[in-house]
Amino acid sequence: MQKRGPLPRAETHPCARQASPSGGTHTSVGGSAPYRNPHLAVEERVADLLARMTLEEKIGQMTLVEKGSIRPEDIATCCIGALLSGGGSAPPVNSPAAWADMVDGFQEYALRSRLGIPLLYGVDAVHGHGNVYGATIFPHNIGLGAARDPDLVERIGRATAEEMAATGTYWNYAPVVAVPQDIRWGRTYEGFGEETELVSTLGSACIRGLHDGGRARRPEVPIAVLATAKHYLGDGGTAWDSSRTFNIRRYRIDQGDARVDEATLRAVHLPPYVAALRAGARCIMASLSSWQGTKMHAHRYLLTDVLKHELGFQGFVVSDWEGVQPLSEDYYTAVVTAIRAGIDMVMVPYDYPTFIATLKRAAERGDVPLERIDDAVRRILIAKFLVGLFERPYAERSLLPTVGSPEHRELAREAVRRSLVLLKNEGVLPLAKDTPLIFVAGQAADDIGMQCGGWTIEWQGKNGNITPGTSILEGIRRTAVGATIQYDRMGRFDTALDPGGRPLLADVGIGVVGEMPYAEGLGDREDLSLSREDLAVLERLRQRCRRMLVILLSGRPLIMTEAMAHWDAFVAAWLPGSEGQGIADVLFGDFPFSGKLPYAWPRSMDQVPLAVTGGTPLFPFGYGLER
Ligand code: BGC
Repeated sequence: MQKRGPLPRAETHPCARQASPSGGTHTSVGGSAPYRNPHLAVEERVADLLARMTLEEKIGQMTLVEKGSIRPEDIATCCIGALLSGGGSAPPVNSPAAWADMVDGFQEYALRSRLGIPLLYGVDAVHGHGNVYGATIFPHNIGLGAARDPDLVERIGRATAEEMAATGTYWNYAPVVAVPQDIRWGRTYEGFGEETELVSTLGSACIRGLHDGGRARRPEVPIAVLATAKHYLGDGGTAWDSSRTFNIRRYRIDQGDARVDEATLRAVHLPPYVAALRAGARCIMASLSSWQGTKMHAHRYLLTDVLKHELGFQGFVVSDWEGVQPLSEDYYTAVVTAIRAGIDMVMVPYDYPTFIATLKRAAERGDVPLERIDDAVRRILIAKFLVGLFERPYAERSLLPTVGSPEHRELAREAVRRSLVLLKNEGVLPLAKDTPLIFVAGQAADDIGMQCGGWTIEWQGKNGNITPGTSILEGIRRTAVGATIQYDRMGRFDTALDPGGRPLLADVGIGVVGEMPYAEGLGDREDLSLSREDLAVLERLRQRCRRMLVILLSGRPLIMTEAMAHWDAFVAAWLPGSEGQGIADVLFGDFPFSGKLPYAWPRSMDQVPLAVTGGTPLFPFGYGLER
C-alpha cells in the first residue's frame, strides 16, 4: 500500500497566470540579488528574499505536496515550497540513482521559478532511507531505545543523512519523539521508549546526527539534512478507542485524544521537544491527535503560545498528512484555523490548487493576517538557507555509493547486536558454533520484510525479500559453521530421521516468530497475544529439540507469559532491519547481550496500558539479562 495521491483537476488550477508580479512569463531574478549571496548572514538573505516575494509566492512556499499529485510545471508557477514522498511513493524504478533523478527533476522546475527558490524534498527515513531499495535499514527506534546509546543513534543519524543527501532528499520526517504510554498503539515501535528522559536523550541525538551528517565534506552547510521532531504534542498519550480516523478500518488509538491534564502533558510529552530545540531542531510536525478534544492542528495555545513563544522555537511547524481538512467541514475555516493556530507549512498533500486558492482568499480578506504569512515564510526560508539548498539544490551524487554501503550495514549490524534484550536464559546461551544439530523454525527467521517492519519500501512494510539484507537464518548459517542447520518455516521436521527412521532430536531449536509488518493506526491492536499460528510452530519445535530458544520480532512487547514457561531462553529482537547477522553475532557469543527493555513487558492484557493499571509487569522497564 502506498501513500500517494491523484493529480488535481485542471479547472482548479490557481496560479498559472499569477506567480509573476508582472503577470507574464517568469523572468528569473539575477544572480546578484543579496539573497543569492552565500557570504551574507541568513537573516539578511531571508529579509531580502521575503521583500521580493508576492503573496502567491509566499503561499506557494507554505505548500507541501505529495509528489504523485504535483504537475511539475506548477512547482515553478506556484513557487511550491516542498514536495514529499509518502510511505512507498518511489520512482517507477526504485533505485538510489532513480530517486536522485526524480528529485533533481522536480528541483529543476523550482529553480526555474521567478525567484529560483529551491524545494525541500521530504521522506520518512525513520529507520534509514527506508523507501529506497537497497538502502541500509536500521533497527526501528524501539530497538535503539533498548540499546540506550546516544552516540550510536547519532552515528545512525549521520549515516541516514548521507544516504538521503545522495538522493537529494534533504528533509527527514524523523525522529518520532513520542513517549508512547499504551503499547496497543501501532506506532509504539517508532518511539524510543515509554520514558520521557530516554526519548529526550535519543531523540536529540538523532537530530544532531541528521543535521551533522557528513558535514565534514561541506562545512559551510549548517544542516546536512533537516530533521523533524514529531508529532507535537501528546501523540503517545492518546486514549484507547478515542480515535475517529478511518482508513480501511477505524483506527483505535492512533490520532486519538490525549485525555491528560496539562501538568501531565508537560511532564511526560513536552520535554523531548525542549531537548530537540536544544539540539537545534528547525522543524516540528504537528500531531494528528487531539488534546482534551481539541485537534493539535488547531491548537493555538500549544503550537504558538507554548512552542513558539514560551520555548522560543524559531523553526517551522509542518502539518501532518491531511491534517487541516478535519478541522472543519468548511475548508476555508479549516485553513484559517490551522494557519492562525501556528501551522507554517501545510502537507496538503493532494489538492494543492484548492489549498492555495483558499489561503489566498483568506489572506486577501484579512482572515489570515499578512504578518502571520510572513512569519511562516520567514521560518521556512531560514530552514532552507541553513540546509544550504540555494548552494546545493541537487542530490549529492558522490554519496550514492554510501547507500547500503558495507560501512553503513556494519553500523546497522552493530545496532542490531546492541538492541537485543535477553529476557530468559536457562543454560542455553551463548550457543556453540559447532552445536551438532540446530532446527530453526518460524517465518520470521527468513523474512527480511518482517524483520524490517513498517515504513520499509512500502508505507505498511511488506513480507519477503523486499530489499537486500541478511535474514536471521542466513546469519545463523554463516556463523554456526560447525553445525548442521535445518530450517522449516512451520516447525515440521518430518524428514529429519535417524538411520533407524526415528525422529531426530535437535540439540537446539531456535523459533523465530512475531508480528507481520504494519504502520500507524493499521497497527493498533486490542489483543497483543502471540498468534495461534506462532504458538503452534513453537509447540511443534518444542517436540523436536532438547533446548529451545525463542526470538521475537515485534514492534512492542507481546503477551507470552504462559508459553514462555516452555522455552529455555527468550530474546526480544524488536524490528532489527536489514542486518539480521547482528542477531547471530550475539547468539553465538561473539558479542554480549546488553540491551535493556525500553517498555515494561506486561504479564497479561489486563495490565495494558501499564501506565494506567499500574500493574506489576512480567519484566520491568530497564530489564535485560547479560548472560
Ligand atoms: C504520518 C507522519 C508522516 C507523514 C508523511 C503521516 O501519515 O503521521 O508521521 O511523516 O504521514 O508520510
